[in-house]
Amino acid sequence: MNEWFDMAEQMKTWMRQAGETQIRRLQKPMEMKSKTSDIDLVTEVDVWTEQFLIQQIKTAYPAHQILTEETGNYANDSDYEWVIDPIDGTVNYAHGFPLFSISVALKYKQEPVVGLVYLPMLDEMYEAIKGNGAYLNGKRIHVSDTKKLSQAVIATGFPYDKATDPLNNVNYFSGVIVNIGGIRRTGSAAIDLCQVAAGRFDGYWEFKLNAWDVEAGLLIVQEAGGKTKRIQQKKGTFVLVGNEVIFHELDRLLNEIEPIEQ
Ligand code: IPD
Ligand code: CA
Ligand code: CA
Repeated sequence: MNEWFDMAEQMKTWMRQAGETQIRRLQKPMEMKSKTSDIDLVTEVDVWTEQFLIQQIKTAYPAHQILTEETGNYANDSDYEWVIDPIDGTVNYAHGFPLFSISVALKYKQEPVVGLVYLPMLDEMYEAIKGNGAYLNGKRIHVSDTKKLSQAVIATGFPYDKATDPLNNVNYFSGVIVNIGGIRRTGSAAIDLCQVAAGRFDGYWEFKLNAWDVEAGLLIVQEAGGKTKRIQQKKGTFVLVGNEVIFHELDRLLNEIEPIEQ
């Protein structure tokens, strides 16, 4: 367990270093390519950040497995696996909108034990080590105590193939928005999860996510006292989180909405 703390400290240093570069490069024109569609982007800074973090891990912990968004999977039989999204919020980053994060989780025997999400522009480091609570820049954080869905601020997001796949969350969005206090779409699932953990948002749901979007943030929400649901569906991961009351209310509301055939 002590080694989880040491590994987390080490990784936080690397994430802060990568964050400095992300801020510096944000000011300059950058190369970008599209991936699954012309709105699903990857910038040269996504790739640089990922390579930087992989290099640091390979030097310090050569036996560990690594799963990353842009370059894939370094799999072996180690008990440890790092799960990395080098920039969560790439569309924001590519547009110069300063809300983006680096998300890193460490799994031990397939279970997340460390969750780290860093927001370079706000210099906010969210962290959780299993069983030890959740922290923002070293201060303990907790989910909100909002009790009424009609007053809740809820976040969500939409997949990159929203124009072509009817499972695009639009039906759930319109069903939910009329029943809550307010909706937010930050453009980073990791940030959404951390805002729930910090009690700034009361809940969050999204479909068709990947492990690197949510692995760190889910642990941070759990350690902040939040409820989480994660379902592996055919087209990706569904995630729902919130404080205890809002989690159940939002779950009920989503279940009342006519589903789209998959
Ligand atoms: C995306 C963000 C966004 C979510 C998308 C993700 P990326 O990740 O987390 O908030 O709505 O589903 O793919 O592409 O910025 O790493
Ligand atoms: Ca992501
Ligand atoms: Ca990304």
